[in-house]
Amino acid sequence: MKHIKANRYENFSQTAAELMMNQVEKKPNSTLGLATGSTPKGMYKELIKHSADLSQAVTFNLDEYVGISSDHPQSYRSFMEENLFQHIRVGQTYIPDGEAADLAAECERYEQLIQQHGGIDLQVLGLGHNGHIGFNEPGTPFSSRTHVVDLAETTRKANARFFNSLDEVPKKAITMGIETIMEAKHIILLVYGEDKQEAVNRLLQGEVDEQFPASILHDHPNVTLLSGGVKVLN
Ligand code: F6R
Repeated sequence: MKHIKANRYENFSQTAAELMMNQVEKKPNSTLGLATGSTPKGMYKELIKHSADLSQAVTFNLDEYVGISSDHPQSYRSFMEENLFQHIRVGQTYIPDGEAADLAAECERYEQLIQQHGGIDLQVLGLGHNGHIGFNEPGTPFSSRTHVVDLAETTRKANARFFNSLDEVPKKAITMGIETIMEAKHIILLVYGEDKQEAVNRLLQGEVDEQFPASILHDHPNVTLLSGGVKVLN
């Protein structure tokens, strides 16, 4: 795992955006895997600031809540529209449909779409405090593909800041599976802030364990960990 350390959030975000822009420069019709959450917001801002050309790229988001409409202000579709898609031209954007009548069929469809686009060239990930990647919570089999998950209470609480109350936070989501994520050709794991200190240091200890989903990334040949604002072991 390659490790790049940044200090300030601006610098962290700029480095992340550069990795993304290098990818589309090399291959304009890249397939990009995207994440929501606080961490990548600055990276999206930088992409907008530099008018990154994603006009031929195809994007696949990691996950989406189940049970709220795609135009709900807290849906991941709304997040992406607000933070990126409304501001620059992107070839095609895919996010799981959390309102699909048949959720299992939706998961299968999502997998097939990724395959049809030749797999993901560059996948951006954030790190959950409990080591989750996408919404793959501790204990998720490493062999999982896109699936419906029950969100851990800790994750719902962490995300409650975006809703009026904890009760409003959806209980389920669709997420790319761990095996789906691991098939990406290059993965960038973005970790920013002191609150991620314990999680990132556990990751850096190197033990691969289903109880800490991100640890599987040690088995991937091309992962870049970009950390910032956090004291790390190495
Ligand atoms: C978001 C996602 C999550 C987040 C993780 C970190 O699409 O899949 O795994 O990346 O929860 O979230 P932040 O960046 O808000 O700390």
